[in-house]
Amino acid sequence: MFQSAARAFIGPNLRRQARATLATRATSFVPSTTTQNVSPQFSHIISGSTSSIVQKVNASSKLYMSTTAEVASDSLVGIDFIKESVVKVLNDSFDPKEVARAAALAKLEPKKKKKKKKKKQQEDAAPVEENEEPQMSQEEKDKIADAAAEAATPFGINDAMVTPATRLDFGDYQCNAAMGLAKNVGMSPRDCATKIVDGLRPIIGDIMEEPEIAGPGFINLRFKKEYLEKSVQGMAKDPERLSVPVVGNKKKIVVDFSSPNIAKEMHVGHLRSTIIGDTLSNVLEFSGHDVVRLNHVGDWGTQFGMLVEHLRDEFPAALNKETSQNVDLGDLVTLYKAAKQRFDKDDDFKVRSREGVVKLQAGDAEALAAWESLCAASRVEYQKIYDALNIKGLEERGESFYNPFLNGVIDDLEKQELAVESDGATAVFLDGYTNRDGSPLPMLVRKSDGGFNYATTDLAAIRHRTEFDDGEKADRVLYVTDAGQSQHFEMVFAAAKKAGFLPETVSLEHVPFGLVQGEDGKKFATRSGDTVKLRDLLDEAVRIAGEDVRSRREDPEAELPDDVKEVVKTVGIGAVKYADLSMNRESNYKFSYERMLSLNGNTAPYMLYAYARICGIVRKATGQEEGQSVQWPEPADIVITDEAETQLIRNLVKLPDVLSEVENDLYPNRLCDYLFETSQMFNKFYEACSVNNAETEEIKASRLSLCTVTAGTIRLLMGLLGIKVVERL
Ligand code: ARG
Repeated sequence: MFQSAARAFIGPNLRRQARATLATRATSFVPSTTTQNVSPQFSHIISGSTSSIVQKVNASSKLYMSTTAEVASDSLVGIDFIKESVVKVLNDSFDPKEVARAAALAKLEPKKKKKKKKKKQQEDAAPVEENEEPQMSQEEKDKIADAAAEAATPFGINDAMVTPATRLDFGDYQCNAAMGLAKNVGMSPRDCATKIVDGLRPIIGDIMEEPEIAGPGFINLRFKKEYLEKSVQGMAKDPERLSVPVVGNKKKIVVDFSSPNIAKEMHVGHLRSTIIGDTLSNVLEFSGHDVVRLNHVGDWGTQFGMLVEHLRDEFPAALNKETSQNVDLGDLVTLYKAAKQRFDKDDDFKVRSREGVVKLQAGDAEALAAWESLCAASRVEYQKIYDALNIKGLEERGESFYNPFLNGVIDDLEKQELAVESDGATAVFLDGYTNRDGSPLPMLVRKSDGGFNYATTDLAAIRHRTEFDDGEKADRVLYVTDAGQSQHFEMVFAAAKKAGFLPETVSLEHVPFGLVQGEDGKKFATRSGDTVKLRDLLDEAVRIAGEDVRSRREDPEAELPDDVKEVVKTVGIGAVKYADLSMNRESNYKFSYERMLSLNGNTAPYMLYAYARICGIVRKATGQEEGQSVQWPEPADIVITDEAETQLIRNLVKLPDVLSEVENDLYPNRLCDYLFETSQMFNKFYEACSVNNAETEEIKASRLSLCTVTAGTIRLLMGLLGIKVVERL
């Protein structure tokens, strides 16, 4: 936040000047590996990094600044608050300009030979001949240092260097800022740490124990027992949010996910996109952001010429606006295959297809009607999947929507000479993108026949989502697709930035995921090698879950009662979702019904069982009937009697940290990891501390509250993962 203010204050010209001087001068002296030791808000300048990195740093600081530096009395205090507190202390206690100056001078000092030898091996890739460095006059050095000081901005969130404690016995968080800062403020690291601690004490003193300075200057921070007790009780009183604060800087966030292609099969990649995109949207919305879920369906492009012409011959009713929506086109994949076959074999048909696209794009009524009937039929198919997955609020805004903006995109690119002719087509060339042979890699924006490309639509979509008044004016746009599209998005984002298609503060982020593989690690397919229909895949998961339940019932042959069938659906669909979300999304993921439906390990059935078990514990301890829905007991004062309780609570109160991490880094598996940790901590607690036979009524009530909060955590996070919990399994 203050970074940008200071930037404006310094003024763009001076900044550019300073950066230019430094970029040409300093880069040859400063191996980039040394930048870790200095404060990041300054390091890019001295190492001559490009402005895109500056933007990135700013963007991520901004994201972390999501809560306000004031503790709302009944909200949890998470790592963000600690970070912001440290930032405040740094700014109150040290002068960023002096730090930047000292760091710049330190970097300009020739490195000592001894050190160099040690480092030499690591730096083999880019050996620096130190002896040949031109000597710099003191005056020159001062000039660079002055420029660095001038360009310095206040300490930001990246300078706080606050992380979760590396070991729980060290505390809850640690701050590592003192080590890097010390030499630039002329202090020993431990003295520097002491100064930070002095500043922190009045801010966090009510919440944290007296900070402990360890080793070379680590600052260990540990929640006070009173804070733990008070906050977990607060969580018990707030089943909806569990005291997780709402973000201070609400953003407009577009999440582009699912996005299958009309008249083509929705495949497992789209399933992943749907599940991951939905969870990220849920988390961001829960944090308090304004989230718009957009389904960027592939409903435009050359394949429609062929499909429309095929319909003209086979389904004439589809070409009439009155009847087009209700034509039964049968299986769309079969239809697509038939059209494609004709296209490949029949030259007349091919010509007609080409003309068909032109007609469609020119708005011909029959072609449009046929196109609409295709879209309608696809929509019905997709909706079945969305219903099974319980996906809500996903707004269809397909590629066709952006058609009216495509010419404008090309015009603007051409005006800026970013788009140029290339082999009859129109392309944008971007620095750093080359083919294997080293030749520049074009990003095509218009084909030689005048048709537009995937990238053109995405450029138009960026403008509509961020720039145009009648669009979303989003602050952040996320694209959830397979990793195979990474380069596409990199290039589109780079082109959009270069062309000035988006406001500077907007952050565009590709959220890539890996492939779905069969258990053998090969392409995910049926036994006969066909692609797996998503509907079949989900049905199969539910079927196996049902069989398992049936086998454990008195009469395994009997039809399951309706309520049990509902549970079976939750388990089956939940298992598919959880299996996907619990993996690091960037890894390829092996699809295994057996593993995802197992009760052991980090799976949906395990978590659902953990929840149901807590419900059972509470029922028993409070004498509630089995058949009724659980009445959660009144939140009680927390009395800690055992180490296992402390550990469970320390884990529970860190819920905001996990959510904030997902909000920033967009890895849903963190939610699953945390869920698994929480349930394991709960198990330890339950082993060590009897709820039903607690020593006193107060202790029993306190333990029941811990049950309430643990169950609430599971319910909340499973909800964000799109999985409903059930009270009995
Ligand atoms: N339709 C594309 C596909 O099936 C995904 C679209 C992703 N979103 C976007 N704005 N390009 O792979």
